[in-house]
Amino acid sequence: MLSLPKILAIDTSCDDSSAAVVSGVNILSNIVSSQHQIHKKYGGVFPTLAKQAHRENLAPAIAMALQQAKTSLDEITAIAVTVGPGLAPALEVGINHAKELALKHHKKIIAVNHIEAHALSPLALSAKKEAQIIDIFPSLAVVISGGHSEFILVEKIGQYQKIGQTIDDAAGECLDKVGRLLNLGYPAGPLLEKFAKKGKLGRFIFPKAMTGRADFDLSFSGLKTAARNLITQLEEKGALDQQSTYDLALAIQTAVFEQISYKLERILFSPDPSKKIYPSRGYLRHLSSVNAQTSPIKEIWLGGGVAANIALRQEIRKLLNRYQKITGEKLKLKVPYSKRLCGDNAAMIGLVANFKLQRGEFAKESDLDRQPNLKI
Ligand code: KG4
Ligand code: ZN
Repeated sequence: MLSLPKILAIDTSCDDSSAAVVSGVNILSNIVSSQHQIHKKYGGVFPTLAKQAHRENLAPAIAMALQQAKTSLDEITAIAVTVGPGLAPALEVGINHAKELALKHHKKIIAVNHIEAHALSPLALSAKKEAQIIDIFPSLAVVISGGHSEFILVEKIGQYQKIGQTIDDAAGECLDKVGRLLNLGYPAGPLLEKFAKKGKLGRFIFPKAMTGRADFDLSFSGLKTAARNLITQLEEKGALDQQSTYDLALAIQTAVFEQISYKLERILFSPDPSKKIYPSRGYLRHLSSVNAQTSPIKEIWLGGGVAANIALRQEIRKLLNRYQKITGEKLKLKVPYSKRLCGDNAAMIGLVANFKLQRGEFAKESDLDRQPNLKI
């Protein structure tokens, strides 16, 4: 296999200090030093503490990433770093560290957008797998994390169009907030998934949000409020027992995932997703089973922390099976090859940087700055 330039990547966008080494789309190492224990008692990320922990944890994470990849800075072609979006004080630590390393070891810097990294994360491959990025455009990246819930049309690598997004809370944020009300700690997503497996479907049902709007946007803050009201009622009656917690976990998870799948279905049946055209009412009824119009979208890429959830993947696979029955066309769902690639991690930053390196897109060290509200 052709040996491609190696990139050292850094991500300190939120509460994980991460470093990785990639070569092309192959991940040689991916170290994530999590701060969850530090932030747990606050029920969310505390920026000053995040900054301090990044300062302590980043250098050891970089050393470990180089060691695991059996390489050294001498063999590294460029240093990639997340410039946004994220928490400003946290981003700053990674950017400053990248600048120092680049200056000391005479390396170029590649600035990376964290959302683009989540979007492309399903394209990452383990060390020895051969890459095949052909005939996959346009694809639809579905980024579902603690900070973002977005549908992004990928015309080609580096050319994106956001066609839908949350108008308030992100999906992971909603799960975390409901989890907090249920005393599940932070972040609550993984435990909610576990609890949901023991829940009874149908005991609690949340209303479907955003179905009246003819666009591909999402909204989760109403769900959070409905869950809060329900939890308060149960607490007042002394009825919030363990089984109720399981049932609530399943209900909230289902409501969040069904909303994502509902809008995704409309994107797939859109006559032109790039123009955000909403399919006409009753389109499912009018579609004859084989001659239905197929989507130009070739693949669905699911990324972000919530993409680790098996129930979300199943919900999307169910939709793609339905789509295949109607159109006769099979759409592939690509997910990151390991759970570590779903949550915040530097390997996905390196992956994006690899494409930028191929295009010769390097950052000028002087104007490299944090961009907390960077968009895709
Ligand atoms: O991508 P990520 O690490 O950070 C952001 O960029 O936001 O995503 C973190 C989010 C949190 O809300 C966390 O609760 C959620 O991902 N999460 C999950 C699961 N694992 C992490 N949500 C549901 N099920 C999971 N298994
Ligand atoms: Zn993230």
